[in-house]
Amino acid sequence: MDLSNIKVEELRAQINEEKLPRHVAIIMDGNGRWAKQKGRPRVFGHSNGVTSVREVTEGAAEIGIEYLTLYAFSTENWKRPATEVEALMILLVQTLGKEVATLNKNNIRLQAIGDISKLPPRTRKALLKGIDDTKNNTRMTLVLALNYSAKWEILEATRIISDQVKRGEFSSNEITADIFSDALSTAGMPDPELLIRTSGETRLSNFLLWQLAYAEFYFTPVLWPDYRKKHFLQSIIDYQQRERRFGKISEQLT
Ligand code: IPE
Ligand code: IPE
Ligand code: MG
Repeated sequence: MDLSNIKVEELRAQINEEKLPRHVAIIMDGNGRWAKQKGRPRVFGHSNGVTSVREVTEGAAEIGIEYLTLYAFSTENWKRPATEVEALMILLVQTLGKEVATLNKNNIRLQAIGDISKLPPRTRKALLKGIDDTKNNTRMTLVLALNYSAKWEILEATRIISDQVKRGEFSSNEITADIFSDALSTAGMPDPELLIRTSGETRLSNFLLWQLAYAEFYFTPVLWPDYRKKHFLQSIIDYQQRERRFGKISEQLT
């Protein structure tokens, strides 16, 4: 859909505040292709993607989303050329350094999911500082998925729960979905009701496999560096028009 003639305010007015998702997750994809289209190196796409992160974070907080999770680096992304991986890690340090003040101004708390222990020390340090500096903010939580893999997370949860059983905290037949959720890195967060992926790809790429079990999926061809507040609002409007049945039939939902 062409959004060029529509104002952000017009889209905002179409949003039903009673039916907002509490948690939106986004697979930010298409930076490389965006740069290639412009005859520039892939890293140029990544640095321009930061503007989209800023816009969407602001847009989500403005309408009252409680949790926004952004897939920034997957465990599989280490397989990319070393120069691209290094550039991404440096970009993270620079962006965190610059944006933490804005997060504080906007009362947004930063958190991270994924195996952070494997990040380069400078990146980990900048991330932990950002998390600590924003820990008392209450308007929205921005979750960065970094060195994240859903299969890794599920295995980690299994190890945690096995240890709990071994210690006699409960028996294996007492393991519930809640116990499992509490052992994931998203413990305490509601599951995302909406997953957005940009750039026309229609796969999960190892993202939040457990948490997205009943999410609505929204795919857009827009490449991440072109993705703006308007596109985000459009996806929320689309989500609000869907009927979420959770196994029931339409007539049971009134
Ligand atoms: C998403 O854009 C950013 C990361 C995975 C870090 P890509 O870099 O995957 O861009 P494409 O998919 O190659 O266009
Ligand atoms: C998924 O994008 C990971 C992130 C957005 C960080 P990729 O571009 O790495 O996914 P695949 O490899 O195309 O599935
Ligand atoms: Mg990609």
